[in-house]
Amino acid sequence: MIYLDHSSTSFPKAPGVGDAIKTTLDEHGVNIGRGNYEEAFAVEAEIAETRQLLATFFGYDDPRQVVFTPSVTYSINMFLYGFLRSGDHIVVSGMEHNAVMRPVTQLSRLRDIRFSIVPANTRGEVSPDDVKKAILPETRAVVMLHASNVTGTLLPAAEIGQLCHDRGICYALDTAQSAGSVPIDMTAMHIDFLAFTGHKGLLGPQGVGGFIATRALSSEMEPLILGGTGSQSNQYEQPEFMPDKFESGTPNIPGIIGLRAALLYLKKTGIEDLHRREMALTSLFLDGLKEISGVVPVGLTGIEGRTAVVSVNIPEKDNSLIAYELERQGAIKTRVGLHCAPLAHKSLGTFPEGTIRFSFGATNTEEEIRTALETLSKIMSE
Ligand code: ALA
Repeated sequence: MIYLDHSSTSFPKAPGVGDAIKTTLDEHGVNIGRGNYEEAFAVEAEIAETRQLLATFFGYDDPRQVVFTPSVTYSINMFLYGFLRSGDHIVVSGMEHNAVMRPVTQLSRLRDIRFSIVPANTRGEVSPDDVKKAILPETRAVVMLHASNVTGTLLPAAEIGQLCHDRGICYALDTAQSAGSVPIDMTAMHIDFLAFTGHKGLLGPQGVGGFIATRALSSEMEPLILGGTGSQSNQYEQPEFMPDKFESGTPNIPGIIGLRAALLYLKKTGIEDLHRREMALTSLFLDGLKEISGVVPVGLTGIEGRTAVVSVNIPEKDNSLIAYELERQGAIKTRVGLHCAPLAHKSLGTFPEGTIRFSFGATNTEEEIRTALETLSKIMSE
């Protein structure tokens, strides 16, 4: 197959991920933070190392602030429900995924939390000046994605972080589509809450994600999930210290150890090298699209200011049928439709028909891109 759906989940995973998970389950599948025996301490040390790798990767100086969750969606929910109070106002972008739009819509109903949407243009760009204009005296947070899962357009995170910092507003960044592709430094970019997933650009397994909250922010947030942590077991109150405050229940230990293997691979390889390869494939694909009439790229047309995600619309045909034919004729795997991001598609002018999304990874080859273009061209001429 030709797998061009890395925005859904990266595949294949980094070398060593599958083996690390298997070894954990087969050879030392014990729990952590519960039993006082050697094997548990050894696994605990690997989890601690994973926190340290993540803290270093995202530019934060305290690994105890790294919290594991099942996914970036859980992390975003934990921030929104744990931080916002009745009467608060937040700012989101016109490119948001439903991971933000659904909880904020529910919060507006349940807790009287208001949100403003900063418009995005048809290339998926959001201007920091418009973010500034949307901030009100009662604004407590700016919550935005870093890169669009529909077009790959990057939002100006460092500038938005600076303007939040200047105003004492919390900046929460959803890095689902950017982590592992572009460098992110939480401290330099003034990010207070960074939500990540392990299974996309970080090249780890599904079912493990997390967040990093600054020390100041984590003391202001309430935990959404409470229960056993293996610590302070004499008390009914949830521990206040990190990461236990937000990590109740047995974590996904094999998943975290799989993510550790992926992070070690990224550290050794360097994300710059992987990103360069992905963007070279994106450029090849964008150039090839120009030769296929009837296929309209959506979003940015060049490779600047984006990740390796390209959406196209085919106004004269049914996008879903084209995606089906790509799969049938060339075993080319794409994602078609609204990509859980109806707001982004409204901003781009592609709602409700959606787009066919091609998303590339560093393991794709130029030959695969050429085959995808040839197959698309053939289908368009049929
Ligand atoms: N949010 C992921 C995507 O864009 C699953 O496909």
